Amino acid sequence: MCGIVGYTGSDTAAPLLLEALRRLEYRGYDSAGIAALAGDHLGLVRAVGKLDNLAARLAEQPLAGTCGIGHTRWATHGGVTEANAHPHSADGRIAVVHNGIIENYAALRAELEAAGANFASQTDSEVLAHLFAAGFAKGLGPLAVLQGVLARIEGAWALAAVSLDAPGVIMIARNASPLAVGLADGFSLIASDASAMAQNCGQVLYLKDDDYGLVTPAGPQIYDRNNQPANREALRISASPVMVDKAGYRHFMEKEIHEQPDSVAHTLAAMTGPDGQLTAGLQTAQLKAVSGLVLLAAGTSHYAALIGKYWIERLAGLPVAVELASEYHYRQPVAGPFSHALVISQSGESLDTLMAMRHAAAMGLQTLGLVNVPDSTIAREAEAVLPTRAGPEIGVASTKAFTAQLTVLFAVALALGRTHGRLEKQQAGQLHEAVLTMPGAIGRALSCVPQIQQIAKQLVLSHSVLFLGRDLLYPLALEGALKLKEISYLHAEGFAAGEMKHGPIALIEPGLPVIGLVSQDALQAKTISNLREAEARGADLYLISCGAAGEQVDFARQIVEMPACNPLLAPLLLAIPAQILAWQAALEKGTDVDQPRNLAKSVTVE
Ligand code: F6R
Repeated sequence: MCGIVGYTGSDTAAPLLLEALRRLEYRGYDSAGIAALAGDHLGLVRAVGKLDNLAARLAEQPLAGTCGIGHTRWATHGGVTEANAHPHSADGRIAVVHNGIIENYAALRAELEAAGANFASQTDSEVLAHLFAAGFAKGLGPLAVLQGVLARIEGAWALAAVSLDAPGVIMIARNASPLAVGLADGFSLIASDASAMAQNCGQVLYLKDDDYGLVTPAGPQIYDRNNQPANREALRISASPVMVDKAGYRHFMEKEIHEQPDSVAHTLAAMTGPDGQLTAGLQTAQLKAVSGLVLLAAGTSHYAALIGKYWIERLAGLPVAVELASEYHYRQPVAGPFSHALVISQSGESLDTLMAMRHAAAMGLQTLGLVNVPDSTIAREAEAVLPTRAGPEIGVASTKAFTAQLTVLFAVALALGRTHGRLEKQQAGQLHEAVLTMPGAIGRALSCVPQIQQIAKQLVLSHSVLFLGRDLLYPLALEGALKLKEISYLHAEGFAAGEMKHGPIALIEPGLPVIGLVSQDALQAKTISNLREAEARGADLYLISCGAAGEQVDFARQIVEMPACNPLLAPLLLAIPAQILAWQAALEKGTDVDQPRNLAKSVTVE
């Protein structure tokens, strides 16, 4: 999603800003720009499309100056045009970048236009530039101007501005959208994502909601919502240079798919207590205090939550509700039998999920953050953190974070089952042993790439694909369809196989590819019967199965057979061929595997 960077120091800002923007590239964007203050001139260069387009513009028109800001934009208000790209300027003296949404922009724009302002874009963000310009025109200093702007706007923002009237100063503010300041000797950086600064700064401080301030080469001066100086704690940055390295793979997604034996193993290690038991990193008292869980998440993390619900209900016998974060806080949910909200987010920054967590906390639920980015907002605001140890995930389509989330959720289910007396010691021990075999099984599953490549060649000839599964494999059918849609742009839907006869079976026509997900679970025969119903109506069936479940099926075009595993863990294993299928289909279609159109890695708008 949109990214902000800024630099003030003694080196030329533009190349450093471009480099920092490259580190945010993985988040997804559709245009970019940089502005820098050089003496009495404000330089501004913007371009639609990839950062290479911006780099080419900068090569033609280099920007001088040692203080500047940059932005990658993911369109919300207004189309993907150069005029809508940030930074925005109002009078040639001010430049502003903004993530989030100015909810009262229409009223502000009307007021500013009535006062003579000329708007150059369709964005909500441009009102900020005009408000800053109006403040400086009154002769105010940068802090007073910033306070004046913040007093006028409603909505969500991370913003940064530079002005010829305040040389060497970056004005910054945050409300509901992340912003951090990098600490260094002789220069300062700012960014919406600490990973953009990891190369240059060892420590960052994160602004809290309603914080604002001025950043100079000597460091930041931050103020809180009561206009009091605020000392925000400096934290070490956990991101590393590995983030921009594909390690010999063509795409980050390919690399991340192949990292899963390690990422699941590392996550399991983090979930293991000092006595060797899977504790999910929680104390016995914390586990005993759980009387029921609301799982809050979006997208792929939401599908992980659905699988988690099956596990926790089955292994711990506790009530679990799964909620789409974007719906939860708007529909007046009741706290019900739930003591805890388990908030699942790879990035830890999805605004929907963050707002859902805050809503749950306000209702009195204890919050647990299941996140992959340890210094993210959700991690910092949750009462306890259950980390996935997947490492930075750069491909927009989530892969290794999903399987790491499943690993944590399985550990949570097992730990709750043990502490709530639902699982005998021996049963818990067997399940623990079963999950310990998963990194190896996932490693072996990766060898299915050539077979899946053949299936992908068939799939891309079709206009639509269905994924069917039952029980624990139903949410995986949803996830398999989402993965295919988002990176190959092929229409796909996931259904609970038993639900087909209630409507979706009308979609079946000769040649429609159906991906059946089967394990040796109690519903194996019923799932196979549902798949036969689709095949009997002309569907081309491709089976993804584990532990010889496919041997019962003689009507599939191809069977992708995964290693045997405990059927409870089948979603963790069958996720691998589902991800590979989406990746191979994207390769067949020649789409952008790591940065699919219209999508962003970290979704910080509603
Ligand atoms: C799909 C995908 C998205 C995210 C969703 C939530 O591959 O990556 O659906 O899962 O935007 O993101 P997080 O988990 O960062 O909150």
